Amino acid sequence: MSAFTRLFSGPAPDIRDAATADAADLARLHATAFHRGWSAPEFERLLAERTGVGHVMRAGPRGKLLGFVLSHAVPPDSEILSIVLDGASRGRGLAGRLLAHHLGRLAAQGVTASFLEVEAGNAPALALYRRAGYAEVGRRKGYYEGPSGRTDALVLRRDF
Ligand SMILES: CC(C)(COP(=O)(O)OP(=O)(O)OC[C@H]1O[C@@H](n2cnc3c(N)ncnc32)[C@H](O)[C@@H]1OP(=O)(O)O)[C@@H](O)C(=O)NCCC(=O)NCCS
Repeated sequence: MSAFTRLFSGPAPDIRDAATADAADLARLHATAFHRGWSAPEFERLLAERTGVGHVMRAGPRGKLLGFVLSHAVPPDSEILSIVLDGASRGRGLAGRLLAHHLGRLAAQGVTASFLEVEAGNAPALALYRRAGYAEVGRRKGYYEGPSGRTDALVLRRDF
């Protein structure tokens, strides 16, 4: 995407802390992106825990959910558990904005490193993470099992 499209793609969406009340919306969106979705009670539990740090992006303060990101944070370390953008909202740099906000909040809580696992063939996610400053620190062979067989997971790390 060009810098021009990124700059002039409409008003900035609303980003705020995720709350347990968002759990059902998060589960719905997560299920659209992953073979094995997480249930609303699972999201509710993750968000209720002190270590659960999530951010939601909506079209407006009470608007449609465009995306979310969720980390497990035990300062100084953290791990991104999931990041998902609504299919219609992808490719506009919104995930980059959401991730930047999320990492900024983690840093404010004393986190100095963010880890994550990503499927080796997930090009949009890898582009997002590399642009955000993540680097590969490991590979787990055959870690994921999907409809087309087993694929590797890359372990990425970003230091703040
Ligand atoms: C990963 C995801 C959150 C990225 O969202 P997004 O809004 O498209 O992200 P951005 O617009 O910020 O751009 C991501 C980068 O991927 C690139 N990209 C988009 N589609 C691509 C494709 N099919 N192949 C290669 N690169 C692609 C974009 O050009 C952009 O790269 P750039 O920053 O160098 O221009 C989104 O694709 C998604 O929700 N995927 C399903 C869930 C998922 O896989 N989550 C990650 C699990 S670890």
